[in-house]
Amino acid sequence: MRTQVAIVGAGPAGLTLAHLLHLEGIESVVLEARSREHVERRVRAGVLEQGTVDLLVESGVGERLLRERLVKRGVEFRFDGRSHRIDLHALTGGRTISVYGQQEVVKDLIAARLAAGGALLFEVEDVALDGFDGERPTVTYRHGGATHRLDGDAVAGCDGFHGVCRGAIPPGVITEYSRDYGLAWLGVLAAVAPSTEEPIYSRHERGFALHSMRSPRVSRLYLQVDAGETLDAWPDDRIWAELQRRLAVPGWTLGEGPLMERGIAPLRSFVVEPMQHGRLFLAGDAAHIVPPTGAKGMNLAIADVKVLARGLTRLCRGGGTGLLDAYSATCLRRVWRAQHFSWWMTTMLHRLPGDDAYQARLQLSQLRYTFSSHAAATSLAENYVGLDPE
Ligand code: FAD
Ligand code: PHB
Repeated sequence: MRTQVAIVGAGPAGLTLAHLLHLEGIESVVLEARSREHVERRVRAGVLEQGTVDLLVESGVGERLLRERLVKRGVEFRFDGRSHRIDLHALTGGRTISVYGQQEVVKDLIAARLAAGGALLFEVEDVALDGFDGERPTVTYRHGGATHRLDGDAVAGCDGFHGVCRGAIPPGVITEYSRDYGLAWLGVLAAVAPSTEEPIYSRHERGFALHSMRSPRVSRLYLQVDAGETLDAWPDDRIWAELQRRLAVPGWTLGEGPLMERGIAPLRSFVVEPMQHGRLFLAGDAAHIVPPTGAKGMNLAIADVKVLARGLTRLCRGGGTGLLDAYSATCLRRVWRAQHFSWWMTTMLHRLPGDDAYQARLQLSQLRYTFSSHAAATSLAENYVGLDPE
């Protein structure tokens, strides 16, 4: 089969790319390893930067998002047993963030793709890339019991951190930069009204905790746990007891409810440079990941494909590779800013393996400074709401 762009992965990056290309009249085929039910149910990110919301709305997939999102003008931090607020709206000239589950974004994009009659194949196996050194890359895969071959002008590797596209690039071409924090987040969805209007990031001697939300009746909560912990070690009453301890401030109570979903994810930072080789372009988690403390992963994935869609559109219209040649360098500026912010938030708020009393004093000093200096608070706020779109 012939297409213009072969897209591997139907997460936020792959689906948004297919949608943006479709709006430009560029054909693509999206290949996804998992089932539609699986990708639509996968509970992950929840915070959308304003630039992400604007892109989804302007491209016509933001109708339900605008109806159901929870707009937040601030975020709360807890340390030393007290609450401190960052007024995102006031500190950034009126910007806000939106809370809307990643799987809802994915559902909206899948619905748009199917309504447009675009090719989107679930449960494909054995995806393999070839020929991207030249101008006619190919992707082979198995689907419905048969082997197929796609010929395109370019391949977009949007297959996440554990995908196959990054590994298809010959050794020596890309350099990897990474950091392992030696810890993980245990995340739960709870059927209980959030006990807070705005997300709460809490630094505590026992470890970090985060109280976020998904709707007026559903809370999303996270706990720092050791790397390698399993869910068996965390029965529901232990999860609630730990959340109660780590989020506590005088005069506030955390409402409890039935847990609907539980998961553990390691905290990691990772970047490859460059994010491209020949006609293969990596986007989103396939090229870089951040620990979730800065709420940046999905936003970066969508920012990448906005840049990529422009370059691919130019190429497919016969305008050459000029824009695509700059793809990686353009994206990496935003990526590294988000890497630094996510690392900074993570190291300021977690109890990291090997941290000593000196490190704890540094964390508290940085937090107190952030909440007593307008300049420091502004810096946190402008990074949190996100940089201007490219
Ligand atoms: P993915 O969503 O990983 O999509 C990749 C797709 O490719 C998947 O559907 C996968 O099944 C498919 N695939 C993999 N291999 C193959 C293959 N060989 N062939 C075909 N298909 C394949 N980000 C934020 O912005 N804000 C947050 O608040 C936030 N919180 C988070 C909380 C947690 C607990 C976690 C784990 C992540 C969080 N993130 C957050 C990060 C965010 O979820 C990711 O950055 C985002 O999913 C990246 O999108 P993507 O499309 O690049 O990759
Ligand atoms: C979420 O709501 O899932 C969420 C919020 C803030 C983060 C990470 C995740 O930093």
